[in-house]
Amino acid sequence: MATIKKPRLKDVSALRRFLSLVSVTLFGVFMLVFLLGTNSGSRLFVSDEIDEYLTYSYNRSYINKKLNLPKQSELSIKLEKLNQMPPRNRDLYPKLSKDHVTIVLYVHNRPQYLKVVVESLSRVVGISETLLIVSHDGYFEEMNKIVESIRFCQVKQIFAPYSPHVFPNSFPGISPRDCKDKEDAAKKHCEGTPDQYGNHRSPKIVSLKHHWWWMMNTVWDGLMETQGHSGHILFIEEDHYIYPNAYRNLQKLIKLKPKKCPDCYAVNLAPCDVNSRGEGWDCLIAERMGNVGYAFNQTVWRKIHKKAREFCSFDEYNWDITMWTKVYPSFGGPVYTLRGPRTSAVHFGKCGLHQGQGEKNACIDNGVVRFDVDNQDKVANIKPEWEVRFAEHQPGYKAGFKGWGGWGDERDRQLCLNFAQMYLLENTATSS
Ligand SMILES: *[C@@H]1O[C@H](CO)[C@@H](O)[C@H](O)[C@H]1NC(C)=O
Ligand SMILES: *[C@@H]1O[C@H](CO)[C@@H](O)[C@H](O)[C@H]1NC(C)=O
Repeated sequence: MATIKKPRLKDVSALRRFLSLVSVTLFGVFMLVFLLGTNSGSRLFVSDEIDEYLTYSYNRSYINKKLNLPKQSELSIKLEKLNQMPPRNRDLYPKLSKDHVTIVLYVHNRPQYLKVVVESLSRVVGISETLLIVSHDGYFEEMNKIVESIRFCQVKQIFAPYSPHVFPNSFPGISPRDCKDKEDAAKKHCEGTPDQYGNHRSPKIVSLKHHWWWMMNTVWDGLMETQGHSGHILFIEEDHYIYPNAYRNLQKLIKLKPKKCPDCYAVNLAPCDVNSRGEGWDCLIAERMGNVGYAFNQTVWRKIHKKAREFCSFDEYNWDITMWTKVYPSFGGPVYTLRGPRTSAVHFGKCGLHQGQGEKNACIDNGVVRFDVDNQDKVANIKPEWEVRFAEHQPGYKAGFKGWGGWGDERDRQLCLNFAQMYLLENTATSS
């Protein structure tokens, strides 16, 4: 599986200074809007005010106690508060269109990739009608700068407050008591449960599955901005290039799904086979759900959420393989997604990294990008009169696969289950 580069918080105190500066600035802008509305004149803002203001909507001490969540660092608490800031660019785009599809972009720390994705999004027809939520695994200034530069739609940033990347010396990061590699916990008096292959947890590896699950729970159940949103949410990643027609095609697919494919759970912008650019046929295709540009609604999320135990307890560190082998098979029928015959999103990587791939594959070298975007990729190219072809006997991970491991530690499994509970507890706590 993909190797994951380990980022370092080089200068935590500079980071914190920067963070509080950001908080103060954002808070200032927010308060300015508020004060302009109430006409109460100017004030000086200090960093502490953000705490008073932003803790209004949730009771962290209640949730932490109830769920026994890891003890938070200062940075982790700040991130949790940043997550409640309203979206940027509301002055430029005061209203979201009625049938908008919220886009969630989840990222870690590859700024040169993120630049390419953001650039591609800026050319997407209809993007100004919607809200873009960028979900960060860790806190990285260079990543923030790119997101802050976005002017083409409303943007909200959220940061995983329990990311291993924001805990430098305790769980979910590395703690000094943790067992390493294949150590025996009883003999070494260390902490940890090994996976099925005898290996202890690696924070940088578990962080991806944690982030995905935290993000899903947060965007569906934990944000004011998406509450009452009955439509679909589209999910893309920091190494997905999005074609100009992606948003309009997405809207068409969502509209066609109930009629054309009542059995489809989702729609996809790209084929399940990440190396395929599509068949180019004159038809729609129903196949197993892919991990590039997938969109589904709240009903489907509730089904996924009900399988939290399956998701969190399977000894597999990839979220997508976990979904394919544990969650979807538990729905009791094939889980199809609907897509067009020509891709509107591609997964890209470094040029020449994989053997046997032709120059048709999208790639990026030193910030120089090679993508084929034809004229037909610039306008919606899905036709409502098309029939649907169902793909059968597709290769890939299925029920019965025992997992690649990397997810054996009880603490990770518990944290994962806690993410599934935290917003539901919050709701019962505030309503009672
Ligand atoms: C938050 O929860 C704690 C612990 O349950 C409780 O003592 C406190 O009163 C709550 N605060 C608010 C503002 O509801
Ligand atoms: C959400 O999508 C599912 C699967 O396509 C569909 O059965 C359901 O009716 C949709 N729910 C809403 C509220 O549109």
